Amino acid sequence: MAFERWANPSEHFQAHLKESLDLLKQVASELTPIKQASSLGAEDVVITHMIESLGLSIPVFVLETGALHHPTLALLERTQAHSTLPIEVYRPAHEDVIHFVKEKGQGAIYKSIEDRKACCDLRKLKPLAKALSGQRAWITGLRREQSSARSDVGLIDDSELKSKGWTKVNPLVNWTWSDVWHYIELHQVDYNPLHDEFYPSIGCAPCTRAISLGEEFRAGRWWWEDESAKECGLHVSKA
Ligand code: ADX
Ligand code: SF4
Repeated sequence: MAFERWANPSEHFQAHLKESLDLLKQVASELTPIKQASSLGAEDVVITHMIESLGLSIPVFVLETGALHHPTLALLERTQAHSTLPIEVYRPAHEDVIHFVKEKGQGAIYKSIEDRKACCDLRKLKPLAKALSGQRAWITGLRREQSSARSDVGLIDDSELKSKGWTKVNPLVNWTWSDVWHYIELHQVDYNPLHDEFYPSIGCAPCTRAISLGEEFRAGRWWWEDESAKECGLHVSKA
């Protein structure tokens, strides 16, 4: 099980937890309307659990790209059935998907970065814009430890305020992977069983593989691409 492998709180776990809970309480009153973006990965189920335990009324949204793994879809169903929060699901426009597949063919995302980014655009970025329409802020599960590109992400990130009109709130920036799993074990939080199969970072099925011992945290995402290309655009700031 993933938590047996990884749960081991850092010496700062209690301070990290307090920082996150304080931030969630603060933004729930000061940055409304606000929603949590959940990929249903380990970080996001922790944040949803914290929001629920604080009794905050922050809706959660999932970008259901139409290409998620079955275990992720099953967790989405369980979350919809059991969560005390509204769980919103945003899907790509059917005609966009049909047009892309017809125009580019099934394997296009592996052959051209441009086509792969076009797929992310229609399956993730357009639905994200809908999810965030009218919102002042969104909460994500970004952690600094996840990659060098994320190493200086802030608890509150206003870099997209001018260009897109929203603030990004990242309550787990300082958490270690072991902190995340300590929380999951402590509170018996339901999680994606793909984590048990060495998938630390989970995206769409065609673009995510398990990692091997010694590989980097995000090595299983878009593994055929250069390190510099490995983002889908959800967290690439064009301020
Ligand atoms: S990605 O840019 O490479 O896809 P990653 O999977 O690391 O991002 O997730 C970082 C954060 O982005 C998650 O914690 C979550 O807040 C948000 N996110 C990613 N994928 C989704 C999704 N399918 N639906 C909603 N939020 C998502
Ligand atoms: Fe398409 Fe892969 Fe991006 Fe998902 S991660 S939207 S399948 S290119």
